[in-house]
This record gives sequence, C-alpha cells and structure tokens, in this order.
Amino acid sequence: MTMGKPLPHDAAPLHVTGQARYVDDLPLPGNALHLAFGLSTVAHGEITGLDLSAVRAAPGVVAVLSAEDFAEMPDCSPSAHDEPLLAVGKVHYVGQPVFLVVADSHLAARKAARLGKVTYRELPALLTVDDALAAGSRFEQGPVVWQKGDAAGAIAAAPRIVEGSFEVGGQEHFYLEGQVAAVIPQEGGDMVVHSSTQHPTEVQHKVAHALHLPMSAVRVEVRRMGGGFGGKESQGNALAIACAVVAHRLGRPARMRYDRDDDMVITGKRHDLRILYRAGVDEEGRILGLEFQHLFRCGWSQDLSLPVADRAMLHADNCYHLAHIRIESHRLKTNTQSATAFRGFGGPQGMVGIERVLDHVAFAVGREPLAVRKLNFYRASQEVGASGGDISARMKSQGSGEVDLTSRGAAAPVGSHALPTDGPVQTTPFHMPVEDFIGHELVAELERSSDYQARKAAIAEWNAGSPVLKRGIALTPVKFGISFTLTWLNQAGALVHVYQDGSIALNHGGTEMGQGLFQKVAQVTASVFGVDASVVKITATDTGKVPNTSATAASSGADLNGMAAKAAAETIRARLAEFIADKHQAKASAVRFVDGTVRVAGEVYGWAQVVAWAYQARVSLSSTGFYATPKIVWDRVRGVGRPFFYFAYGAAVTEVVIDRLTGENRILRADILHDTGTSLNPALDIGQVEGAYVQGAGWLTTEELVWDGKGRLATHAPSTYKIPACSDRPDVINVALWGKPNREDAVGKSKAVGEPPLMLGISALMALSDAVAACGDGSVYPALDAPATAERVLMAVRRVEGV
Ligand code: MTE
Ligand code: MOS
Repeated sequence: MTMGKPLPHDAAPLHVTGQARYVDDLPLPGNALHLAFGLSTVAHGEITGLDLSAVRAAPGVVAVLSAEDFAEMPDCSPSAHDEPLLAVGKVHYVGQPVFLVVADSHLAARKAARLGKVTYRELPALLTVDDALAAGSRFEQGPVVWQKGDAAGAIAAAPRIVEGSFEVGGQEHFYLEGQVAAVIPQEGGDMVVHSSTQHPTEVQHKVAHALHLPMSAVRVEVRRMGGGFGGKESQGNALAIACAVVAHRLGRPARMRYDRDDDMVITGKRHDLRILYRAGVDEEGRILGLEFQHLFRCGWSQDLSLPVADRAMLHADNCYHLAHIRIESHRLKTNTQSATAFRGFGGPQGMVGIERVLDHVAFAVGREPLAVRKLNFYRASQEVGASGGDISARMKSQGSGEVDLTSRGAAAPVGSHALPTDGPVQTTPFHMPVEDFIGHELVAELERSSDYQARKAAIAEWNAGSPVLKRGIALTPVKFGISFTLTWLNQAGALVHVYQDGSIALNHGGTEMGQGLFQKVAQVTASVFGVDASVVKITATDTGKVPNTSATAASSGADLNGMAAKAAAETIRARLAEFIADKHQAKASAVRFVDGTVRVAGEVYGWAQVVAWAYQARVSLSSTGFYATPKIVWDRVRGVGRPFFYFAYGAAVTEVVIDRLTGENRILRADILHDTGTSLNPALDIGQVEGAYVQGAGWLTTEELVWDGKGRLATHAPSTYKIPACSDRPDVINVALWGKPNREDAVGKSKAVGEPPLMLGISALMALSDAVAACGDGSVYPALDAPATAERVLMAVRRVEGV
C-alpha cells in the first residue's frame, strides 16, 4: 500500500531544478501592473499632509491611491475589521501601508514608493508590554482567566514557592518566498486570484468583500507556497486585495510582492510575551499549585491574537498534571506590527513557560530536572469512558458576538470562571481528561536511546575540568493538542475524478507550503484504489473546485483533507466494486483493489481496464468527499471542554556548549523521538521534525527581533536577523518516529506533525540554562530569557557567577 511509504515530496524534482512555479513566476499578460506600498515612518500619528506629486511623476507610474481615493476603505483583517488596506487619517505602526503605487514594473513601483512626502502629528506610541499595561491598552475588556481548583490556596499551603519572570521573544517567519499575489480580471468583473496564502477561502472572502462581489465571482488558486509557517494565514490578504482593487479599477492584471525588508517591516510575526509564574512546590519538586500570567504583545490590530493567546493557555500544562492552576492572559495592543500565527500558534509560548517553571523548580529543590519533570507527568493512559458527555454537561454554549465565519480569529466575550479541581481522572487546566498520555514510555525510550544519564554524568565530569567552556544537556517533552480551537473550522472537502484511462485527479482544500501535504493526501487516495501514488495527479488548491475551506493550519491539513479525499475515493471505489461484482455475480464487498489490479471472483483485471468498462457502462467516476472532526466541544469563555481530538507527543535531548567569557554557544547534538502515530509518510514526517526542531531552537537562541525607541524594527533583513543556517545544525541529529498508532480514528491512524516538533527546540534553551548553571555554585538560578543570544547567555553567566 502506498500509504505509509517514505516517498519524496511530490514536487522535489521541480524544487531542485527550479521548475516549480510560484506566484511571481506566473507569466502575466503584457499589460500587467505592479504594485508597492508607501509605508508609515512613525509608530503612531495623525496624517497631516500627503504630498504624492513626486510619486505620480516618477517614471513608469500609472496611478497612486491613498485614503481619499476610497469612499469605503477595504479591510484586510481576518477577525475584527480593524485593518484598513491603506491608513485612513491615522497610522498605528512603523511600516503601515499609507499609499499604493501602481506602475508598469516592480522596480518602478518600489522606487516611486520612496518619493511620497507624508507629514504627521505624532502621538504617544505604546511599544512595549509595560507601555500597554500602564495605558490599559488591550484587545479584550480585561484579561482572560481560566482556572482549575484553588491555585492561590495551594501555593500558600506549599512548603516552597518558586517564582519568576521570563521574557520570550517573537520570531520572523522567514519563508523563503515572500508575500505575493496576482489578480487577473475576467469578463463581467469576475476575478481570478493567485495568492501565496495558507487560506484561499479567506482571500476569496476578503477580495469579494472589497469589490462588493459575491464570493462566487472570485476564484482563488494556490499551487504552492515557498513556506508559510503561519505567516500566510492572514498576512497575504492585503496584497491580494490591493491587486484586486487595481484590477477592478484599471481593468488590467496586477501583481504585488514585498521585497524582504518590506515583508519584515509590514507583516506580523510570532507574538513575544512576558510570562510571570508563581509555583507552590514540595521538597521533591512536585507542583502543588501554579499561577501564570501571560502578557502578550499583540501589535496594532487584532488579527489572530485572541486564539493565539488562547492556545498558549491551552499548552500551559504541557505534559504536567496541575491540580490547582490559574492562568491569566493579557492581550495587549501596541503600536507595532500585528503579531500573527506562527508554527504552534501560541502553543510554543505557553509550553516554554511551564518548561521554564520545571527548570526553575528543579534548580530550587536541587534535583535532576528530568526526574522533576517525570514526577509531575500526567498519569499514563487513563481510560475515561464517557468523558465527552461529562464535559458537555458542564458546558453551556455562549453567544459569540460578531464573527468572521472564515477565520480562526473570531472573538467571544471574556469571563473568569473557577471550576473545581479534577477527581480520579486527571484533567488539563481546561478540564479535558488526558486519555492518551504516552509521555512515560516515550521519554523512557529516548532517555535510553540518547544515553541521557551517562552523558549527563560525563558532562558534569567534563565541566569540572573545563574552566572556560561549559556543556549543558536537557530533555524536554511535548504534548500538543490537535484541532482548530474554533470548532467549526475542523471540516474539509475534496474532489476526486477518475478519468476513462484510469488516471486520477485529486483536489482538496489544503494548501502546499513545503510540508508535503499534497503527497500525503495523494498516498491516502491512491491506497483506496490500490494504485501507485504516481497515478494520482496532484492539482492546485482552487476555491472553484472545493469551496469553504479552512486555512491549512493547526497542523490538521492531512487529518482533515486526507479524510475528505478518502471519503471521495471510497465513494467512487464503491461504485466500481458494485459494477464489477455485478458482472461476476459476486458481492461488492469481495472485490479487492490492490497493486494496480481489481480482483473479483478469482479474476485479476488491470485498474485501467476496469475503469474503462465502468465508463462505458455509464458509472459516475467523480465524487466529492467531506469530513468533520468528531468528538470536539469547546467553550473558550469558560475555558472548558475537549478542544482537541487528540494530542501529539514527542521529546528531545539537546546538548550544548557555551563559552563563559563571551556567551557564544553551539548545539552539539540533538536526539529526538517524535510521535506521528502510524506515519502516512515517514520521510516527510522526519523532514518536518528536523525542520521544526531547528526552527524552534532558532526562535529560542539566535533569532532576535529588536525595535528601537521610535518603534522601528531594527532587524529587518537577514543581515541583522539571525536564522539558523546549515552550519548551525548540530553535527549529530538523531530523529526517530514513535510509530504506535493513534488511538483515535485519524486518517490511517496517523498523527499531525506540522507544528508539534517545533517545541522540541525548547530543549536547546533548557540545555543552555543547564550550561549556564554549571558556571555557578548552585545558589543563583540562571533565569535565561529567550532568545538566549550570546549576550543573554553572557549576562546569565555573570548573574550566576555573582559578578
Ligand atoms: N513545513 C514547511 N516546509 N513549510 C511550512 O510553511 N508550516 C507549518 C507546518 N510545517 C510549514 C511546514 C505550519 S505553521 C503548519 S500549521 C503546518 O505545516 C500546516 O500544514 P499541515 O496541516 O499539512 O501539517
Ligand atoms: Mo500554522 S501557525 O497553524 O499555520
């Protein structure tokens, strides 16, 4: 069966030979126009003057648009209708689009965009978490609070208190292909949009809204992205809308792409935040009560910040059972880029918080961190019976105000609700029974395969004899919830055609951004028909073929679209089976589709032969398929329910070395064991795990975003923003897949893999903490902030040395 085979990425030959087409490669008609934005240079201000005469006079410029050219400014927001395409009266961050240049070439548009003269009356800008807190600037009326049990009481009664404050930086997506869109006007005002987006339906919806068209008049096509990482869930809307507006007004095709600096300055990044924690623990390091405060810097518009901050709360436990827990989450509004989705969607921020707590607790009680982690683990797989019913009974659904039905940015009213702690069944802080916890077995296996204990001892010995270089090692686990927390997004559609020659065309709502989704879904489809994956033609995502798609996000691409494609293929297979069984007076259930053949009543026919016969017999060879994830229910206001179909697990051991005189550091070795259930494609899954680990480690070590005192992003190019390069990859990186089937009925018993392994990178930060601790006498906790750049490592070394 082709499902489960380690096939290469379907487009790998096209990628490596440069033939793969991206939106900027599409040949457009010769009269196509090219666009660029003129950007705000102040973080907050009223526009007092806009002199665009030099822009209009620049070579190649065809038109220039600003607020005064719009009776109604199109909106780009995926949630709160708070993102005008171009600034109207006021600007809210450095980099906000103020005017739009339309020219006959990309370069002409960019050059002209620099000639605008905008004057501002500057207003006080809120740039930091502290600024926003002091001004009470936030996206919901107050903080969101979820609780279980009595955290304050449990902490007060605990033998020890461990508390601290932890700064966690944001992250630039650094997709290789920047944001880009192209729009080709059609007869009667219809629009065809090519967009580098994870969310074609959202682009369709926003373009239709901007042009006052029904969604049926707009078709969005996405062949592939050169990486998205969450940065193309909503951040591509502006480019597609700008192109559509121009195509509509001038009747000519239009294309827009941001160059790298503009991309970094204009678009949102991973949310940075401050995490305050207060844990009550016993002498062994058992957490008895815990309070978290998450202070999220969300930027100027709401975008997806509410569900991102929710997901951080949903991962504040990671693998640890917290009987008494209170999480308070502030979603702060600042005059900076609007922070957005980034691989893990807030989950990594929540998870790094609890891992920091475990690291600190272990240090405080003087025990080995892995032992303390295990002590706090959830109990091994507990059977809960009718758990879902139990949850539903405690939930009461609430109204959710004005909601954008296509987006996961939808808001709901805020509230604070306390519910009792769990009974005999261990639950998450949001009262979901943890039924599938495999952390004990998985971590034990990794501990063995990575030789953790022996290496830990060897490192201690090595450090004792090494005054300048110090090594550190850490093992951290991952438990990541799979499903969109906006429950209705957990649906997908697919369209499968079998042509009369036996070839198969596959289309579904998921988008390809390098993760290998198309190949996986093709493998699922081919397996239904018992044919080779190469028989299945993978086609571009197209809102005209499969409508009402959810973003390819939350790692659910294969889970959702794989099931939808399977359903479509099974419908066709059932028709074929019935047809061929009928000819042999056999039962349809006795027909087998294997190895490119169809077997019935002792006969073996070629797949294409049976298809040709079925066509002649007028059997329908095309079908749609649909899937909606079962079992999930969620009340975000109260923080109660089963938002996730299942959890994906993993664990990593990272070993690092630091130079205590300079803070410079390297990752020496990584050992990873990651749970992908029964893998749909182990080669692609290992690729996802390796890439995600490196991206996660980059987030927490070298990738530093710096804004100056005026709110200008100082790190807006690869020259100043340091993503991991090939040379930063550890010399030894051992990746293994856990391989046991998903206990839930996900496609092929597999598990989602896109985001969970990013959080394996947390082990790199904790290994650095371990190495820094080795520079001291054990009395001062390193309290290493993230990203742990060489400077921060050096400062932490100085702290533990008491300098
Ligand atoms: N892998 C590659 N190569 N490029 C990407 O842009 N995005 C990640 C992950 N892996 C990404 C990637 C993110 S943020 C998500 S949500 C998932 O892929 C989305 O795809 P999936 O649902 O098919 O896993
Ligand atoms: Mo991924 S952050 O859910 O696009």
